Amino acid sequence: MEMPERADIGEAPVRIHVLGRAVEVPFGLTIMKAMEYAGFRLVRGVGCRGGFCGACSTLYRRAGDYKLRPALACQATVEDGMFLAGLPFVPANRGAYDLESIEWDGVPDGRKTLLPAHYPELARCVACNTCTKACPQELAVMDYIQLALRDDLEGVARESFDCLQCGLCAVRCPADIPHYHVAQLARRVHGRYAVAPSPQLSARVAEIEAGEHHGEMDRLIGLGVPELTALYAQREIEEVAA
Ligand code: SF4
Ligand code: SF4
Ligand code: FES
Repeated sequence: MEMPERADIGEAPVRIHVLGRAVEVPFGLTIMKAMEYAGFRLVRGVGCRGGFCGACSTLYRRAGDYKLRPALACQATVEDGMFLAGLPFVPANRGAYDLESIEWDGVPDGRKTLLPAHYPELARCVACNTCTKACPQELAVMDYIQLALRDDLEGVARESFDCLQCGLCAVRCPADIPHYHVAQLARRVHGRYAVAPSPQLSARVAEIEAGEHHGEMDRLIGLGVPELTALYAQREIEEVAA
C-alpha cells in the first residue's frame, strides 16, 4: 500500500498510542493506515477498507478526556494524543435459529413472538440511547430495538438496513443487547417470508447453476486492476420500482 511521506502531508505528525504503544504517524491518515504506517500488520479487524464490512471496529480515547469513543478504523482519521485499540471480534450473544423452520406470518399476536423470544434481553433496554450514539452509520439503533420489542420485523429491517454488523452498539450497551444480531434476524425473516421473491434474482441463480457465466468469470479473473476499475465504473445500476 502507498503511504504518504511526511513531507507530502504538509501538517505536523501526530502522536498516538496503539494498543499502548506510542507511535508517530503523518497527519490525515485513517486509523487503519496509521497502524500500518507504524508497522502493525493487520490480520484481523480489516476487510473492505471502505466503510462497508464492519470489520474494523475500534475504541479510542482522546488525551485528557475520560470518554471512550467508537470508530471504524478505515474511516476515522487519527488525532494527536489518541489512545486506541481495535476490536477484531465482538463476542455478543447470537440466538440460534433455523431460518427455514421459523414460522412467521408477519402478524405478532401476543402469543407468538419472534425477536423477544430469541433475544429476551431486549426487555432490559433502559432507553439510554448509547447504542445510537455509538453507531458509525448514524442509525437510530435505540429506535429499532424498541421496534424489535414490539416484534415489528418490517420496521427493524427498514431502520437497520445499513447496519454493518460492526458490534460497536453492543460493546457500549449497558443492557448487553446484541443489536446487530437482533436486526439481522429481523431482516432475514422479513426477507424470507414477507418480501416477494425477485424474478431477476431467481433467473440469475438459474443461469449460474446452468454454468452460463463461467466464461465471463474466467475473463474477469484474468483482468488487471485498471480494467476491473473501469468496468466497475461502467456498471449498470437497475432502477428500483417505488
Ligand atoms: S444502549 Fe442498550 S439500553 Fe441503551 S438504548 Fe440502546 S439498547 Fe437500550
Ligand atoms: S447498528 Fe450497531 S452493529 Fe450496526 S452499524 Fe450501527 S453500531 Fe454497528
Ligand atoms: S475495513 Fe470494512 S468497514 Fe472498515
